[in-house]
Amino acid sequence: MSTAVRQPARGASDKGAPYRFPPGFQRNLLWYAFRKFRPANPIILFQHLAESYGDIAHYKLGHNHIVFINNPDYIREVLVVQNDNFIKERTVQRTKMLLGEGMITSEGALHRAQRMAAQPAFHRQRIAKYAEVMVEEAARMRDSWCDGEQRDIAVDMMHLTLNVVARTLFATDLRREVYELAAAINRIMGLYNFLVMLPAAEWLVHLRPPGLAAFVRARRRIDAVVYRMIDAHVKRGRDSGSLLDLMLAGSSSADKDSRQSLRDQVITIFLAGYETVANALSWTWYLLSQNPGCEAKFQEEVDEGLGGKLATFYDVPRLHYTENVMAESLRLYPPAWAMGRYALNDFALGEYFLPARTTVLISQFVTHRDPRYFPDPLRFDPERFSEAGKARWTKFTYFPFGAGQRQCIGESFAWMEGVLILATLAQKWKLRLVTGHRVEPQPLITLRPKHGMLMQLQAR
Ligand code: HEM
Repeated sequence: MSTAVRQPARGASDKGAPYRFPPGFQRNLLWYAFRKFRPANPIILFQHLAESYGDIAHYKLGHNHIVFINNPDYIREVLVVQNDNFIKERTVQRTKMLLGEGMITSEGALHRAQRMAAQPAFHRQRIAKYAEVMVEEAARMRDSWCDGEQRDIAVDMMHLTLNVVARTLFATDLRREVYELAAAINRIMGLYNFLVMLPAAEWLVHLRPPGLAAFVRARRRIDAVVYRMIDAHVKRGRDSGSLLDLMLAGSSSADKDSRQSLRDQVITIFLAGYETVANALSWTWYLLSQNPGCEAKFQEEVDEGLGGKLATFYDVPRLHYTENVMAESLRLYPPAWAMGRYALNDFALGEYFLPARTTVLISQFVTHRDPRYFPDPLRFDPERFSEAGKARWTKFTYFPFGAGQRQCIGESFAWMEGVLILATLAQKWKLRLVTGHRVEPQPLITLRPKHGMLMQLQAR
């Protein structure tokens, strides 16, 4: 396949200046897609672009210009400096079919209002209160496990984090519904790539062709749970201080539009808040099982730090190594493995000048594995995140939670939850990958282990 460097394409901006495109594919991506890249695995495409063209690469998909960037200065330009010129790109827009207009998909004034309304639920003092629930849920799972049994840890982590989000942020106990909810979400995730590729999927979904009927059914099931939660809160009337109360306070829940808007906001936080952390935990258990030296150090810290007691909020700052383990896991298997933006106006990136409607893609998976920023990148080494190692990376070479105005609102929540769950489960258990189980990352909305994570429990 020829991937020779392309000459700057012809064309000029409104002001007459010629566009200057970065090097990249000579042909339309559709041509390559059928020959080399499985469209279902864009990570292979991104890695190829980074290896062939370095910091910035250009290609076309149909009539659309796409630029892939893998350089901290360009990443900062797009996410921070020129943020006002960008909105979320097409695949994110497509998630509106499930998420509606929640904080991930909304733009401009609506986004600012939603973010401001939700912010108090993520303040440090508020998060401290969530620690107890996180540990309680983890301890319940820990105590229900049996020595020697084999479990799909990816499923366990999903159930655990779903319960945590429901109880902490929405003051709702979902234990009875957790299986149904997780199954419906799985169904949608399985259809995600199909939905992103399908032309006019947003419109087709109303006609219910056979392939989309499953999507509509799954969405209806998720909606039913979410509306039950909203109705229960409205009926209860008193303010439990949960995120849902903050959202309710910001809307007049009586009319249909604000009911729909509440549903969109709730479902967004729900999905953003559990699936990402669950995947981070599954990858972490896997990485620990493959790196016995690191695993031993982690266990030692947990045993010494907690002394057999249940962890609390105040233990988190002492569990340094556990946090570094999670950080290194987020580097190698970032649950948010890529982000995309769509340019509203012509814009410059370094020496290049690009037209409005260009899509800019950034991949945590690729940048986090770039040897310029992380030497020997495939090695699992939590020490990269110790005080001594910290000087080597920046917030634009390591950005599992994004950056700029759209940076993850749940970052502190996620760090605390991850550390507390890892420590609580490790007090009793060591997890071993079942021999022969295939481990392969699958880049859907988040980076999931494609075949689950089958592990055997060993009592400690
Ligand atoms: C390891 C766990 C997590 C990871 C890796 C992660 C990653 C990210 C990333 C990369 C973004 C930015 C996307 C973009 O700019 O296009 C984001 C946004 C967001 N995340 Fe997270 N997240 C995690 C956990 C959470 C949690 C626990 C919550 C809530 C409980 C949450 C809620 C959100 C929301 C609402 C947004 C949209 C923020 C905005 O646009 O203003 N995330 N997350």
